[in-house]
Amino acid sequence: MGIIDQVKVKARQCIKRIVLPEGDEPRTVQAAAKLLKEKLATPILLGAPDRIKTVADNAGVDIGGIEIINPLDNPKASAYAQSLYELRKAKGVTEEQAAKLVQDPMYYGIMMVKLDDADGLVSGAVHTTGDMLRPALQIIKTKPGIKVVSSSFLLDCPNKSLGHKGLLVYSDCVVVPCPTAEELAHIAVSAAETARTLCGIEEPKVALLSFSTKGSAKHELVTKVQEATRIAHELAPNLALDGELQLDAALIPEIGASKAKGSPVAGYANVLIFPDLQAGNIGYKLTQRIGGAEAYAVLQGLAKPCNDLSRGCSVDDIVATVALTAVQAQG
Ligand code: ACO
Repeated sequence: MGIIDQVKVKARQCIKRIVLPEGDEPRTVQAAAKLLKEKLATPILLGAPDRIKTVADNAGVDIGGIEIINPLDNPKASAYAQSLYELRKAKGVTEEQAAKLVQDPMYYGIMMVKLDDADGLVSGAVHTTGDMLRPALQIIKTKPGIKVVSSSFLLDCPNKSLGHKGLLVYSDCVVVPCPTAEELAHIAVSAAETARTLCGIEEPKVALLSFSTKGSAKHELVTKVQEATRIAHELAPNLALDGELQLDAALIPEIGASKAKGSPVAGYANVLIFPDLQAGNIGYKLTQRIGGAEAYAVLQGLAKPCNDLSRGCSVDDIVATVALTAVQAQG
């Protein structure tokens, strides 16, 4: 069974309410109908009901039974605005600005998640990563004990001898452009949790990657990864984690054994931590485009799950991301 089929099985075990702020976007409407039919989540569409119904009719889908909320006409809007004002007044947001912000479906949806009227949020069929990330970072904030929100890509590779039966978790490929050593350590701990929660990897093996293995090269960039490894050990002493490792030492047993003898991870890593966003983003795209892996992204480290889509996403991509979000919401 592929990773998304496994996630769907988990999602059905405890159905979560997932809000979709881009409620009048045709792929999103079709995905909502599919999610309800396949009992993967309880989708909530935000937008003008007439417009959403027209989109559904045009797409030939039945959205009966799906909750639709219009942020411009809802009794909860004033409570959301007040709560948003309290959360952000120290940052200069006025009551008038908060009232205006919650008219935006993205902010309305984030407030629903913040105040437990939804368990998670998925957007990005229309909006950019930053459009959703910024309000999520400002309002939902990080999980206790985690300093930085980041992302993981789940890469289902054709070569099943790699990682966990062909499954590898890459982090961070989306959010933090230039992490400090401490942020890198928090990214490693979050990625291990993603591997457990979403991939069913009971014992994640986490490699902090570099162009050096165990001091084979000397450079300030290598020192940063070594420092991140030390901090990550302190944060999660029981986690199988090692660094700094080159990619081949992390993945290939014979190379791991010769370059990093005695490492608890080398040769068998299933969670790869990239030193910065350029390496992570390029790395996942190489694995997807040249290596032929299926790739699914999630955000990690947020106190409640919110996930981003690619603007080129299909209906099935939205369904998959909602299922991933629902499983994250199960905890
Ligand atoms: N974790 C936790 N909090 C954060 C983080 C983070 N990673 N980044 C910013 N914040 C907080 C800030 O502390 C601030 O909080 P405050 O307002 O309460 O003080 C708030 O979020 C906003 O911070 P800004 O610095 O104003 O936000 P910024 O404009 O830098 O945007 C963003 C943050 C969007 C995450 C930025 O870092 C970014 O653009 N990252 C890259 C995104 C991207 O383009 N990815 C690649 C494409 S996606 C793909 O290929 C799949």
